[in-house]
Formats: sequence, structure tokens, C-alpha cells
Amino acid sequence: MTGIIARRRLGAHGLEVSALGLGFMSFVRSADDDEQKLATALVNEAIDAGITFFDTADVYGPDVSETLLGRAIAGRRDDLVIATKFGNARDRDTNPNARGVDGRPEYVRAAVEGSLRRLGIDHIDLYYQHRVDPAVPIEETVGALGELVQAGKVRYIGLSEPGPRTLRRAHATHPVTAIQNEWSVFSRDIEAETLPIARELGIGIVPYSPLGRGWLTGRVRSRADLQGRRLAHPRFAEEVFDANRALADEVAAIATEVGALPSQVALAWVLSRGEDVVPIPGTRHAEYLRENVGALGIALAPEQAERLTGIAGRVRGERALRPAAIGVEAPPLTGALS
Ligand SMILES: NC(=O)c1ccc[n+]([C@@H]2O[C@H](COP(=O)([O-])OP(=O)(O)OC[C@H]3O[C@@H](n4cnc5c(N)ncnc54)[C@H](OP(=O)(O)O)[C@@H]3O)[C@@H](O)[C@H]2O)c1
Repeated sequence: MTGIIARRRLGAHGLEVSALGLGFMSFVRSADDDEQKLATALVNEAIDAGITFFDTADVYGPDVSETLLGRAIAGRRDDLVIATKFGNARDRDTNPNARGVDGRPEYVRAAVEGSLRRLGIDHIDLYYQHRVDPAVPIEETVGALGELVQAGKVRYIGLSEPGPRTLRRAHATHPVTAIQNEWSVFSRDIEAETLPIARELGIGIVPYSPLGRGWLTGRVRSRADLQGRRLAHPRFAEEVFDANRALADEVAAIATEVGALPSQVALAWVLSRGEDVVPIPGTRHAEYLRENVGALGIALAPEQAERLTGIAGRVRGERALRPAAIGVEAPPLTGALS
């Protein structure tokens, strides 16, 4: 049975998705049978709840997340919006000469074939450049994406964490439907420059890490609660941990007033930023998925929303593992190396 989740329009080109998506970056460990069972059960539960929007990337795993998601949606793909990303060059860890970020047209054309194959689909609904390549004019990258749209392999295009001027240039080359940037009670820097441009151009906003990578759930109490890449993340570093946990406790206190969970209040805050906003919290747990869907029914009083809005300025530590890759402006087309 299909649940009822409000729909939101992403961008100005007819793409409609559930107001909450599901991020699939928590599935990176292995594509073995046990993980597949878990992923398939979670995806089915999400679809049954009314979620239509699923987010992955070729670099998650790498390959693992796309592979698990592809098998999980088999037979139910038609009504779904599948988003994936390219551009974080996949062999950068093993090949020291590999480009860290690759936006060359030939790379785009090769990357899409891999994602289509792993996802087991004949088109990607929303295909993002994961990070802007500082060595490739955006017109070249987006030109290649436009060709994929022409060829029917991609329906809509997006950019993740682009520099603001690069976003404008991209949109002038081929209409951009969505940007995917970090945005949460802990991370508001999108609001300074990128958000006004996106809104001026009619580009939808997909906030990633809307739960502050777990901080905003109130369930991270010590570094022992963390695994994998999160242990290396600057906002979970030992020297800032207690300060950031105190801020998470402020969110939890507001949640108590609201009569909701901290995660629900954090998602309700992002959802209340505008009808053009569709967050994609990530989880591998059905229980968390249900809680997150519950955020759609939470209304914050203006005063509570304002208190939440005041927290980000006090968060300690960079918001990204690779801050230099955030907000990159692509080189100009004129005079670019061929
Ligand atoms: N474009 C980009 O550069 C970029 C960067 C990062 C992420 N993303 C996308 O955005 C999605 C979400 O971001 P994220 O995963 O970094 O951060 P997030 O959604 O802010 O937080 C995810 C973390 O919170 C936990 N969690 C989720 N719901 C919970 C709940 N109700 N109670 C307690 N814990 C809960 C998850 O645990 P479990 O996983 O253990 O269930 C996971 O550890 C990703 O899946 C990915 O698709 C994109």
C-alpha cells in the first residue's frame, strides 16, 4: 500500500518528488547478500511509505551503493526518481596520478554508462556533477550532460556544491534542475550566495546531510558511537566534540518542547526553509526511516525555528572533509586548454 507523502516540485522543468528523499550513502560496506536484503527491505519500506526520491553516487562504496539500490528498485522503478552523481574520480585512492575531480566530457560520457549499468536502468532521472572540476570549463561538462539529456540517458541535471558563478554559467549552458548542497541546523552557508542564485534561476534545492551527519539526531554521545569516515570528520574531532554535542543538546531540548525527536525537529527546520527544498536524510535503519518520515508532520513555532536557526554560527569544525572541493569556480571557457 502506498503511503501519503506530500510532493514537491524540484526546479522549473516538471520534476516532482516526495517532499523527503532517501540518501543511500549509508550503504557502502559491501554488495553481499546480507547487505542486499537490508537495502531491499529498506527501499521497499520507503516506497510503501510514499518516498519516490532516492539519492546515490558512483563513488559511494565505490559502486556498492548504486549496485544495492539498483537491485532494490528492480520491478518498482517506474514511479521513482533516481538521482546519482559523477565526478569524484573513482580511482583516486589507488592511482596517485588520477585527477581527484573529473569533469571532462569524455569522463562524463564514460561515467554515465557505469551508473546506468550498476543501477540496472535505462535512464537516470537526475544526474549531478558531484564536485566542480577546477580544470574544466563548466560549459564543457554541462555541454556533455546536455547531450546525455538529448540521448535520453538522463532526464534532468544538477550540480553539487558548485561555486555561485559556476552555477549561473552551468544554467546558461543547459537548464539546471537542482543543486545538492549541505544545509541543516548545523550548516547554513548555502544561504549567503548560492541559495539566492538558485531561487532566482528556479533551481530546486536538495539539502544533503540534513541531520548534520548524525549530530542532529541526539544519538551521537561519544566518539565511540561513530564509525568509518565520520571519525575523520572535522565536526566529530576530539577537540570540538563536546562543544558540538552541547549544541546538539540544544536541538534536543527544543525537540522536547515540540514533543518530537531531535532528528524530526532538524528535518522540519530544513523542510520549512521553502517549498523548493527536498532534504535527503541517509539511513540504513528502517526505524530511523520511519522517524524521519514522521518529520513531515511536525510544525515548528516561529520562535522555535528561530532558535534552531541561531545554532549554526556556533558549530565548531569545517563542515567538509575536503573543504577545498566546495564552492569551486570552474575556469573560463575562453582560453581554456583544448
Ligand atoms: N553531494 C554530496 O557531496 C553529499 C555529501 C554527503 C551526503 N550526501 C547525500 O546525502 C545523504 C544524507 O547525508 P549524510 O548521510 O551525510 O548525513 P545525514 O543524513 O545528516 O545523517 C546520516 C546519519 O544519521 C543517522 N541517522 C539517520 N536518521 C536517523 C535517526 N532518525 N536517528 C538516529 N540516527 C539517524 C544515519 O545512521 P545509519 O546510516 O546508521 O542509519 C547516518 O549515520 C547521503 O546518504 C547522500 O545520499 C551527498
